[in-house]
Amino acid sequence: MIHPTALVSSKAILGARVEIGPFTVIHDGVVLGNDVVVESHCEIGHPTPLAEGAPLVIGDGALIRSYSCFYQGSTFGPGLKTGHRVTVREKLVAGAGIQLGTNADLQGHGTMGDHVHTHSAVFVAHGARIGCFVWLLPRVTLTNDPLPPSDDHVGVMVEDYAVLAANVTVLAGVTVGARSLVGAQSFVNRDVPPDTVVAGIPAKSMGSTARLVRKDGSGQPAYPWMRHFHRGYPPDVVERWLQEFGSGPVDGEPNG
Ligand SMILES: CC(C)(COP(=O)(O)OP(=O)(O)OC[C@H]1O[C@@H](n2cnc3c(N)ncnc32)[C@H](O)[C@@H]1OP(=O)(O)O)[C@@H](O)C(=O)NCCC(=O)NCCS
Repeated sequence: MIHPTALVSSKAILGARVEIGPFTVIHDGVVLGNDVVVESHCEIGHPTPLAEGAPLVIGDGALIRSYSCFYQGSTFGPGLKTGHRVTVREKLVAGAGIQLGTNADLQGHGTMGDHVHTHSAVFVAHGARIGCFVWLLPRVTLTNDPLPPSDDHVGVMVEDYAVLAANVTVLAGVTVGARSLVGAQSFVNRDVPPDTVVAGIPAKSMGSTARLVRKDGSGQPAYPWMRHFHRGYPPDVVERWLQEFGSGPVDGEPNG
């Protein structure tokens, strides 16, 4: 259903059962998959010459919450979920099952793998390359300008399964390795090796993630977190993780 106050371009392509909320604008060239819900006061496909004419494509089953603004020229796979007041600029190529917390600001011109979860107020400067199953917790900032202001931008890389805790800032061009954990409030100005915990200002290694123990009193290893934390991931993904990483007591299950 399209709310009577919504403005939907005749040049937009809408899938089946799409819902558009009050006062939302859907611009020319937008492609929305089936079962997409866009809540009130959103702007979808905001025009920009920087998109070079590319459309905004949102895959099936997306839920875009109120007051969000997506520019022309990005693509999202199925299952996108956003909080409120999310901004996404042009030329972001994002996979399936992306979750963007309230006030996320993604500057585009980059990539984001499947099932990346960002919490509130995350900022991703343009050019970032983010792998699959990455967590960016509240107010994480991924920068791209080594000496601002300049056009010498170089994006951050965050590899698969990495977790960046609250308030982490990563400097331009740094790589955060796969399955690593960056502690809260850290300032990351050097590459983080895979499977490593780093923390502090500047961030220093605290050793392998293998030393992390769960805080539930079980004494079980906390990492790789994919062994015990499955909430919100599709069954086929979890099945793949169990084969690749093995299983521990699972959160939310008896003895878990
Ligand atoms: C990195 C982290 C996992 C380490 O936890 P831990 O292994 O239990 O470590 P401890 O609390 O035992 O601390 C070990 C030492 O590292 C220091 N340390 C721990 N985390 C730190 C951080 N983020 N920055 C700087 N120093 C840190 C501690 O002060 C302590 O130093 P000390 O031995 O001199 O007293 C934890 O501090 C962290 O950042 N968790 C993420 C919290 C978060 O952001 N959650 C998501 C938001 S909802």
